[in-house]
Amino acid sequence: MTKTVAIGNQKGGVGKTTTTVNIAAALAARGLRVLVGDLDPQCNTTSTLAPELGPYTLAEVLDVDPSTREVVPGSAAAAIAPAGENWPTGIDVLPASPVLSVREQDTWDGREYRLRRACEGVLEPYDAVLWDLPPNIGQLTVNGLTAADEAWIVTDPTRYGLDGVALIMGAIERVQRYHHPDLTLGQIVINMHEPDRQEPKFRAAEIRERYGDLVLDQTLARAEVLRKASGAAAPVTAYGAEGRVPAAALDQLACTMFEVAA
Ligand SMILES: Nc1ncnc2c1ncn2[C@@H]1O[C@H](COP(=O)(O)OP(=O)(O)O)[C@@H](O)[C@H]1O
Ligand SMILES: [Mg+2]
Repeated sequence: MTKTVAIGNQKGGVGKTTTTVNIAAALAARGLRVLVGDLDPQCNTTSTLAPELGPYTLAEVLDVDPSTREVVPGSAAAAIAPAGENWPTGIDVLPASPVLSVREQDTWDGREYRLRRACEGVLEPYDAVLWDLPPNIGQLTVNGLTAADEAWIVTDPTRYGLDGVALIMGAIERVQRYHHPDLTLGQIVINMHEPDRQEPKFRAAEIRERYGDLVLDQTLARAEVLRKASGAAAPVTAYGAEGRVPAAALDQLACTMFEVAA
């Protein structure tokens, strides 16, 4: 059974992409078949997973066929390519391009369902599908949520991060109400945590007070090696002993998210 998870926050820079690509690496290392879709025109996930780009990206996949004014069902397959050599085998990428931002302006009926339609018959070979959402609550976020089984939120323990959580929660609720009633809410993950510092500690407590059991008990600590890994477009598992603690934490999160026995 394929499980599809969208990872979002209205705020950027909270670690959505870093968490997504490392969860993909953890699952692939466990032998799962993983697809990562980059819904963000900043293309950070695409440049990090470094697939060999063909003629199509999500920008074309989510465009309509002029004759039918619909996306072509299953057309996502044409854009999918394996991740580059830094990544374990078993990760495929549905890449973004900067042009993807024009899809935010789409106005035709059914625009919220384009990704879902383009993925018809495409996701079955995968055990895990991850949609890395952009840092806003526009059409691309709505498309990712509408094409997911479950929505997870990543945040940093800051006031701005919390504001972003509230906004993406609203977007999730609207998608559940208007477009995809079966979408379930996963959990809120506190990333870049520094439990010994006053402000992150205060904000983490605030998130828990506000959202209770929705907040995952496990937190992801701020770790310099994750920034290095992002910079090198590599998984944190490539850093051996230096990356062991964050790699184990991300593996644990991956197992929780995708209900894999650890
Ligand atoms: N747990 C962490 N510890 C340290 N740095 C992190 C952590 N998670 C993410 N980062 C860094 O924070 C920056 C923003 O992360 P990114 O994944 O691009 O966020 P987003 O996708 O939400 O915009 C990147 O440089 C990334 O390496
Ligand atoms: Mg990102």
